[in-house]
Amino acid sequence: MTEVKALQEQFVELYGGDSSNPIRTFHAPGRVNLIGEHTDYNGGYVFPAALTFGTTMLIRKREDDQVGFASTNFPLRKHISIQQVELRAEDDWINYPKGIICELQKRGLTVGGYDILYSGAIPNGSGLSSSASIEVVTAYGLLTMEGQPTDKVEIALLSQKAENEFIGVQCGIMDQFAVAMGKKEHAILLMCDTLEYKHVPFVSGEYKLVIGNTNKKRGLVDSAYNERRSQCEQAVKYLSAKYPELTLLGQLSLEQYRSAQHLIPDETVRKRAQHVVEEIDRVLQSIEVLERGDLAAFGQLMIGSHNSLRDLYEVTGVELDTMVEAALAVPGVLGSRMTGAGFGGCTVSLVHQDSVERFVGEVGRVYKEKTGLTADFYVCDIGNGVQELQL
Ligand code: GLA
Repeated sequence: MTEVKALQEQFVELYGGDSSNPIRTFHAPGRVNLIGEHTDYNGGYVFPAALTFGTTMLIRKREDDQVGFASTNFPLRKHISIQQVELRAEDDWINYPKGIICELQKRGLTVGGYDILYSGAIPNGSGLSSSASIEVVTAYGLLTMEGQPTDKVEIALLSQKAENEFIGVQCGIMDQFAVAMGKKEHAILLMCDTLEYKHVPFVSGEYKLVIGNTNKKRGLVDSAYNERRSQCEQAVKYLSAKYPELTLLGQLSLEQYRSAQHLIPDETVRKRAQHVVEEIDRVLQSIEVLERGDLAAFGQLMIGSHNSLRDLYEVTGVELDTMVEAALAVPGVLGSRMTGAGFGGCTVSLVHQDSVERFVGEVGRVYKEKTGLTADFYVCDIGNGVQELQL
């Protein structure tokens, strides 16, 4: 809370004091996906969890139609008229909250003027959903300020729409859903086609989730991401010769896929489809083994997931592979895999609590030797989704 106090002081310094309108504070976390990668836009299962750190937003009503944007993370700040919300490359991070305002306006909501200060604890471009976090906190905060309903699933959907249509990244629903709907000490089993979900207690006993940030800048990630998406759509087209009703790969069981895979003539497309169908199966197996408390089996599924993302989906790259390999060489590590879109970003590993220090030292050293990059590590707890902070 002292952090929030300091942010309030910064807010007043920036925008001035105004006793008639209170400053309210909202928070949305980042997320880590435990297993189920590149399955969301295929209508399959994912298993993400919210982090305990994310994006804090301080907001106060203004009497005119201006919205002030500032962040403690970037020098760029700006006031824009609520009537002129459009994507501009030079507006950089401000495009994310603008996308939300635009989406709210499309739904017929009149958004008033506000001053806003963000403070983000998620490293940008690390694959821990800093963009979903700022989108969801903005949507939740603005709807609350406007006295509108704040259904969190709706908020996740509208945030995803802003990312798809305003920002132009064809992401699935996982990130925004996890950031909106996270629950302390629980992961979320989400069926992305129907949005049916279940909070599953993540009981890891003596084991910790350790996130490793490769600090590899994810260039070209959006185009490669969109390319994977369209390869999955091609696979559906081929497979619909046998399954005419098929619209998403996630609708096929492993057996159904195996009996039809020969219909995909293109080897690359076949590999992509195989990853998706097997990865969805790994999510379901994960739930089963975690329910029996079999963390070692879950670790094996994490490793299987990483290998498939490396060999079949081809979204890992030397940095992520090096980090996972180094992680698995440390005694006390049950599993390790890339998390998020790939091509850089972060890994997540399941590490015995007595091995965490050794893990950070050894993985960091080997990773630096082999890639020349310095890694960062975060031992992570699972936190709550978006909320207003009551001070
Ligand atoms: C990114 C996207 C998600 C999901 C993952 C891969 O994080 O935003 O929708 O597709 O990649 O699992």
